[in-house]
Amino acid sequence: MYDFVLKNGWVVGNRICRTNIYVQDGKIAAVTDADYEAASIQDAAGLYVLPGCIDTHCHFRDPGATQKEDFAHGTCAAAVGGVTTVFDMPNTNPAVLDAGSLKQKVEYFKDKAFVDYGLWGLSLGRLNLAELRAMKDGGAAAVKFFWGYAIDEKTHALIYNYVPGQPGVIPPLDDGEVYEIFEQIACNRQILAIHAENSGLIHVLTKRNAVSGGTDYRALLASRPALAEVLTIQTALAFARDTGAHLHILHVTSGDGVELIRRAKAEGVPVTAETCPHYLLLSADDYERVGPMIKVYPVIKEESDRLALWQGLMDGTLDFVASDHAPHCISEKKGSLFAIPSGMCGVESMLPLMLGEVSKGRITLPFVGRVLSENPARIYGLAAKGVIQRGKDADLVLVDMRKTRRIRNEDLHSKQPMTAFDGLEVTGWPVKTYLRGKLVADNHKICEEKPIGKWVPLYQNVSR
Ligand code: DOR
Ligand code: ZN
Repeated sequence: MYDFVLKNGWVVGNRICRTNIYVQDGKIAAVTDADYEAASIQDAAGLYVLPGCIDTHCHFRDPGATQKEDFAHGTCAAAVGGVTTVFDMPNTNPAVLDAGSLKQKVEYFKDKAFVDYGLWGLSLGRLNLAELRAMKDGGAAAVKFFWGYAIDEKTHALIYNYVPGQPGVIPPLDDGEVYEIFEQIACNRQILAIHAENSGLIHVLTKRNAVSGGTDYRALLASRPALAEVLTIQTALAFARDTGAHLHILHVTSGDGVELIRRAKAEGVPVTAETCPHYLLLSADDYERVGPMIKVYPVIKEESDRLALWQGLMDGTLDFVASDHAPHCISEKKGSLFAIPSGMCGVESMLPLMLGEVSKGRITLPFVGRVLSENPARIYGLAAKGVIQRGKDADLVLVDMRKTRRIRNEDLHSKQPMTAFDGLEVTGWPVKTYLRGKLVADNHKICEEKPIGKWVPLYQNVSR
């Protein structure tokens, strides 16, 4: 007798098959048309079953900036949005900089997670070069490097509008120091994930813009153009080629960036890359309609970039989609476009937005399964997750492709519910989320008061 069966759903793998999924002890025990007994039965007729989504790019702000978001709210939002595994970014306060702070975060998150989670480590260049190995051995998912950002000396918070010479900050690293990070990453066989923006160029162009007095989105984009991304991606690819380090490029935003990655992959450079729903679905032309909520770093670019990102995702140049969930206080998002912080919620709307594209006929459900689950699981070595197969964790999302509903700020489960997609009507919604066989979210609400999410330490050597 099995613990649970999900009957007659359209199960999404490489193909879509109408079948039953049997669960035992939180694992998928069988995927079969046969009828067996189970203690609990859920009829999924008419619904699709996807592997739980894996969002490897979330800033849950906890501890340190819990007025913006916290781990409990963020992981509730994940569960409701069909995301069963999140990776928490390391730029919290305290930041995850070494084995000790990694362990501390694992302890701190205990009993707070509504979904399973991995943890990122942060690179600060020479300051913690020797700690990278210990973070890997401690189970950190990978190492994040905010290339081009200055970081607060004490809190390690990102400085969004850095001015050279600013006191109390670690300035953006020079290329020599970044090269040393790549060498160390290669030696440790880790993944180095980068935020790719060239700070020198951005500084000059921002100053020039301040003189000419531009305040609108076009001026912001002119200060942080695609060239800033291209310069950093070029250098990073050269470093990855030279050192053999596995480079992962976070949130790619430009057609030129995609093309560089496409060529590098063809030449065998060890690189993977992601983009986010907001880069796939919005362009600079949407600023008039959306307003300041559209501000993220790197900035959302032109319509031609948006189309090139889709092409890159479809042909495998971009390996997967992640949300870059990065809320701020709603009150902070008012005022000068240049001064307000960048970022918005993303973890809860990522799957509905991609399902909306399925409804429009742009992509298929098996494709969504690959870019939201299978590919991130493979790249980061999450061996128990990513596909609906015997032996894997029973992380499952029931999806209703007939359901039409609006994404609305007030329905989001984050502490500061804010999205550029507020008001957008989408067809295709996650309606039930199972984490290791347990129903954790049902019909856009969280089920359990008591969170059951677990840390997923990642000790494996990664494969591409
Ligand atoms: O817009 C962004 N916000 N981009 C980032 O890379 C960081 C993030 C944040 O932490 O606020
Ligand atoms: Zn981010």
